[in-house]
Amino acid sequence: MYFVTGGAGYIGSHCALELLKQGYEVTVFDNLSTGHTETCNILKSFGGSRFNFIKGDLLKPDDINNALKAKPEAIIHFAAFSQVGESVKEPAKYYENNVIGSLNLLNAMKKNEVRKIVFSSTAAIYGEPIEVPISETHPKNPINTYGKTKLMIENIMDDFDLAYGIKSVRLRYFNVAGADSNSLIGEWHNPETHLIPNILKSTFGKDFQLKIFGTDYNTKDGTCVRDYINIEDLVSAHILALNYLENGGETNFFNLGTKEGSSVTEVLNTCREVTEKNIEAEYTERRAGDPACLIADNSKAKKILNWTPKKTLKDSIKTAYNWEKKLQTII
Ligand code: UFG
Repeated sequence: MYFVTGGAGYIGSHCALELLKQGYEVTVFDNLSTGHTETCNILKSFGGSRFNFIKGDLLKPDDINNALKAKPEAIIHFAAFSQVGESVKEPAKYYENNVIGSLNLLNAMKKNEVRKIVFSSTAAIYGEPIEVPISETHPKNPINTYGKTKLMIENIMDDFDLAYGIKSVRLRYFNVAGADSNSLIGEWHNPETHLIPNILKSTFGKDFQLKIFGTDYNTKDGTCVRDYINIEDLVSAHILALNYLENGGETNFFNLGTKEGSSVTEVLNTCREVTEKNIEAEYTERRAGDPACLIADNSKAKKILNWTPKKTLKDSIKTAYNWEKKLQTII
């Protein structure tokens, strides 16, 4: 059995779904503070008796200690707050939830002798890049609390390996995009802050004005450049990371991105192409804390995990759009 914290959220639910597709038993542990019951219901109807849901909170040590008595093969740890802007305004909330929550999880693993964990880390641990593409050896100087919490957890994981033999694979995501190919589940944040869902939402004409943050960056067209990695490609790296640990792999960390950069304007134009709609946008001031350009050097994951991302930005936008249409009927 695989144990997925945060499995009711965007990335965790896609990972749980893929594990179910591959025939595994999956337990999702989630406090439903940002994840959705509806998502768990969909996973349940897909996985049947192989899917189990525990409503629990990583900030309550008893919740996680009791849940891990079932001794899963490995943990895949997604549960976290993940809004960069909010993390700077409310650092206490982020340090408590992300760092203390992860520490409670690691302590429960130690207590219950669970020794493998795949962790959802982020490109935000690198901070403002001094060279692009960014490799795993790039200096780590996070410029926001979100990135700092993820880096602290990575450091704690190193110490828990040295002292207690808990092996971790830390996957440092760039910009995750898209949805399940069959639109069973997809990206569903409230409030939504991410570029692609915001562009797509604006096509439904529900009192939402799309804004593009900044036109004077030192990039190809003045808007920020990001490396958009498809959710299903991203999930495939988690399965490979589990295999890596099960085959005796040592603690390690990998960037997950495509090595291709797209500007905000390019993303907007691709959304116009996919939706066949003339999407209007207001070009406004920069958003605080946005680096100009984030592109992954993904060669380490390719070499060691044998991972190859296959989907394009357009593929991600297509599935995101299909999901967004479905979501409009749910919310
Ligand atoms: N943007 C807009 N308008 C919007 C939303 C975003 O112009 O309505 C711009 C942003 O300013 C940025 C780009 O689109 O230039 C991408 O922004 P997102 O909010 O989609 O994503 P971020 O790059 O800010 O953050 C994402 C994840 C973080 C992670 C980071 C690592 O959400 O959790 O990638 O690179 F830390």
